[in-house]
Amino acid sequence: MGQNIEGTYYGDYLQLEKLLDAQHPKSKEIGQEAHDETLFIIVHQVYEIWFKQIIHEFSSVLDIFSAPKIPENLIAVAVSRLERVIKIQSLLLDQLPVMETMSPMDFLEFRDLLVPASGFQSVQFREIEVRMGLRTNNRKSVDRDYFLGRLSEKDKSHILEIEKDDSLLDLVNKWLERLPFTQKENFNFWDEYEKVIANMLDRDEKIINSNLATLSPKALEGQLANLEATRRTFKSLFNQESHDQLKEQGKRNLSQRATLNALFILLYRDEAILQLPYRLLTCLMDIDENFTTWRYRHALMAQRMLGTKIGTGGSSGHHYLKMAAENNRVYEDMFNLSTFLIARKDLPELPKDLKKDLSFNFQG
Ligand code: HEM
Repeated sequence: MGQNIEGTYYGDYLQLEKLLDAQHPKSKEIGQEAHDETLFIIVHQVYEIWFKQIIHEFSSVLDIFSAPKIPENLIAVAVSRLERVIKIQSLLLDQLPVMETMSPMDFLEFRDLLVPASGFQSVQFREIEVRMGLRTNNRKSVDRDYFLGRLSEKDKSHILEIEKDDSLLDLVNKWLERLPFTQKENFNFWDEYEKVIANMLDRDEKIINSNLATLSPKALEGQLANLEATRRTFKSLFNQESHDQLKEQGKRNLSQRATLNALFILLYRDEAILQLPYRLLTCLMDIDENFTTWRYRHALMAQRMLGTKIGTGGSSGHHYLKMAAENNRVYEDMFNLSTFLIARKDLPELPKDLKKDLSFNFQG
C-alpha cells in the first residue's frame, strides 16, 4: 500500500468544504430567509447520502447474484449487506420525526420557492426501486409519461438504461429456480405436498359438513365458498398455467418454480443448508416492509404538512403517496407464501438421502 507522507487530514478526506457548502436556502437568496429551510435541505441531503450507500450495497449484491452459480460464502456476504440496508432503513424512518419538527406554517414560508422540484425527482430513490425490481411499466397508481416527464433528460435516460439490467428480483428468481432439492430421482416433493394439502382441505370440508346443525344455510354457503377459494389458491401453486396467468395479470412476481422453491425454504428452514437462503428471503421481506412503512409514514407526513393540497411536484399529494405505498410492493410474493404453509407435524417426511443433503455436521 502506498505511504501517505503528509498524512491524511480529516476535513480533506471527507471533502467537508464541498459537503458543508452545499446548503443554500432559496429563501435566503431572495433576502427573506426561512429558518427551517436549512433543516429541510439537510434532511433531504442526509437521505440522499444514505440512498447512495444503499445503492452501493445493492450493486454488490447484484454482482454476487449475477453469477450462474453462487458459492455459499458469497450468499452469506449478500445477506450481511442486505442486513446493513435494513439497519439504514431504520435510520431513514427515524429521520421523519426530525422533519416533522417543522410546522406546516414554517413549511409554507418557503414551499412555493421549491416548485416544481420534489422528492418525486429523487433519481437515487428511483434507482433503489429499479434495482429492487420495480420497473416503470409495472408502476401502479401513476401514469408512465407523467412519471418520466418529471425527470430531466439525463435522469430519465439513466433510469431507462438501468431498467434493462436484471434487478434483484430477477436474479433471486433465477437463483430460486436453480435450487435442486425438490425434484430428486424417485421423489417429487410437490406430489407429496399436494396430497397433504388435498387431505387437509378434505378434512376442513368434513368439519364444515359436520357442523350442518349449527350453521345457517347462508353461513354454510359462505364457508364452502371460502374453502373453494382456498382450493383455487393452492391450485395456482401447483399448476403452472394458473400461476402464469396470475403473473401476467401482475398478481405474482416470481415464477412458479421459484415460488415452490421459496416455499420449500420456508417449510424446511430448520435444515442446516436452508438457513442462509431463509435469511436471504427474510431480508428481502424486511426491506420491502421497511420501504413500504417509510412510504406510508412519508405519506402521513405530507398530509400533516399539506392537508389536501397538491405536492410541489404536481401530484395529488397525500392521496398519490398513499396509493404508491399500497401498490408498489416488490417482494409481496414472499409474504404471500404464508398462505401455503402448513403445521410442522403435517410436513411430508423427506427421503433419507435428501435429509442428508440438507444437513451438515461439524462433529464428524
Ligand atoms: C415537508 C416535508 C415533505 C413533504 C411535504 C413532502 C411531500 C411530498 C409529496 C406531496 C410528494 C408527491 C410528489 C409531489 O407531488 O411532489 C412527495 C414525493 C416524494 N418525496 Fe416527499 N415530502 C417531504 C419530505 C421528503 C423527504 C425528507 C424525503 C427524503 C428523501 C422525501 C422523498 C420523497 C420521495 C422519494 C418521493 C417520491 C415518492 C413516490 O413517488 O413514491 N420527501 N413528497
